[in-house]
Amino acid sequence: MGAPRVIPGSSPCGPQPEQTLPPRPVRESVSEYSELALPNDANTFGFLLGGKVMHLVDLAAAMAAMRHARRPVVTASVDHMSFLHPIHIGQLVIVRSSVNRVFRTSMEVGVKVFVEDLLTGERKHTSSAYLTFVAIDERGCPVAVPQVNPETEEEQRRYEDAGRRRAGRLELKSRQRP
Ligand SMILES: CC(C)(COP(=O)(O)OP(=O)(O)OC[C@H]1O[C@@H](n2cnc3c(N)ncnc32)[C@H](O)[C@@H]1OP(=O)(O)O)[C@@H](O)C(=O)NCCC(=O)NCCS
Repeated sequence: MGAPRVIPGSSPCGPQPEQTLPPRPVRESVSEYSELALPNDANTFGFLLGGKVMHLVDLAAAMAAMRHARRPVVTASVDHMSFLHPIHIGQLVIVRSSVNRVFRTSMEVGVKVFVEDLLTGERKHTSSAYLTFVAIDERGCPVAVPQVNPETEEEQRRYEDAGRRRAGRLELKSRQRP
């Protein structure tokens, strides 16, 4: 998201100054993105394609990350995603996101996908996902962002869980390096 002038990770960015901005509450990053499931995005059974759901998840997560960082961000990784219920064409897809934790230049964003049947009002939780975004400066280099301040018990739990998930992610990344 945004427009870096160089490809991130491809230039010597050098050491980054520590950021001194005050922490921001999780609630300021909370985002919601809704879209009707339309026939163009259907599979042969008349359900919304999983890839379309993943696209909406990436968009909603980027909105939360940019709201928190107030900078352009890039998607660094997406954790496992399950699809618990099919989404029928004509139903409303609702994607909610918020920043769970900031590390230094990276942020974990939690996303929940719901489907609403507009005729009955019934809502179901269909997917959850965790994405990591990296904030970048005008050169495309990773840049530190303000910490996030969890205010509720639920936000605190997500904050702590995010630390454990990061360790797993970085371990996976180190094993994938050529
Ligand atoms: C993500 C990216 C900016 C990281 O660049 P890099 O040169 O590896 O930078 P660093 O090693 O300094 O890592 C920057 C941060 O990203 C984190 N990171 C990098 N890869 C990660 C991964 N796979 N999963 C989770 N975090 C990751 C690092 O832990 C570090 O976090 P921290 O500063 O909070 O400690 C770079 O790999 C990139 O641009 N990738 C392509 C992004 C893209 O095109 N996305 C899709 C379109 S938006």
